[in-house]
Amino acid sequence: MPAPERVPARSLTGATGTDGGADRTGDTGAADGQDAAQVVQDAVELLTRGELTVRGQLRDASNAVLYCEVEYDGRKAECVYKPVAGERPLWDFPDGTLAEREVAAYLVSEATGWGLVPPTVLRDGPYGEGMVQLWIEAADEGVELLALVEEAEPGPGWKPVVRAEVGEGRTALLVHADDPRLSRLAVLDAVINNADRKGGHLLPAPDGRLYGIDHGIAFHTDDKLRTLLWGWADEPLPDEAVAALRRLAAALEGELGRRLGELLTSAEVAAVSTRVAELLRTGRYPRPSGQWPAIPWPPV
Ligand SMILES: Nc1ncnc2c1ncn2[C@@H]1O[C@H](COP(=O)(O)OP(=O)(O)O)[C@@H](O)[C@H]1O
Ligand SMILES: [Mg+2]
Repeated sequence: MPAPERVPARSLTGATGTDGGADRTGDTGAADGQDAAQVVQDAVELLTRGELTVRGQLRDASNAVLYCEVEYDGRKAECVYKPVAGERPLWDFPDGTLAEREVAAYLVSEATGWGLVPPTVLRDGPYGEGMVQLWIEAADEGVELLALVEEAEPGPGWKPVVRAEVGEGRTALLVHADDPRLSRLAVLDAVINNADRKGGHLLPAPDGRLYGIDHGIAFHTDDKLRTLLWGWADEPLPDEAVAALRRLAAALEGELGRRLGELLTSAEVAAVSTRVAELLRTGRYPRPSGQWPAIPWPPV
């Protein structure tokens, strides 16, 4: 959908444009004949070791979001760099922890095997430590993921989210696509306790993959799941989600748990395991807790 938050290159301030010859390491799923895992590993190496050059700043972001180029060993890519120093303080999350939460979300996504979050690393940069994430050039899919409809019920292929005021006393039904890429993201969000899954944080890539971004406000120990993806609330989890959750439960006992421990508090890491166990126990998508606004507004 045309989300105002999805800022194309022309909305950058001070941008010098992108290098037309840049290595599009962002197309992680589409590399011809290449092992997808290797492509991701190469991207992580490039992001971690590459020289970072700031090219512009994303307008209208709540935190400092810098659009950069990263270059290493003859390879280049575009990326975002969010320095910890540019994080806006929040009342409910400890200061200076958003970058680590973004990296934690990437690691959880990788452990599901679904690759829902662009490669993301924690590193030093021109404005100090921050998160660096591969830039995904959002494609105009021709497929809408979210819509507001006049009808009382969503049409075929759509799931209802909420009936909302749209001005002048009128209401409309907010719906999202009944799309397996979104249902996977709904599972990831339940696991990471994402407090900000809105339209602008969904990036459809040219290769048909759908990425989720902006996971700075996640992993709280309280239930803060705030998302547009409630269309499956309380429905049974599909087999692929149960399998991914089992993989996660095992990974949390080992390397994933250890790496999350470097990024989150031990209570937050324990809460991840609890949420995974609870999802496996109920076998259902979560429902809104009722303790917290469940829908980000505006939804884009
Ligand atoms: N990895 C990425 N690929 C492409 N665009 C991105 C990426 N990360 C952020 N953006 C763009 O930057 C905007 C602001 O980034 P976001 O992560 O939402 O920051 P904030 O924490 O300030 O809300 C996004 O809405 C999107 O347009
Ligand atoms: Mg954002």
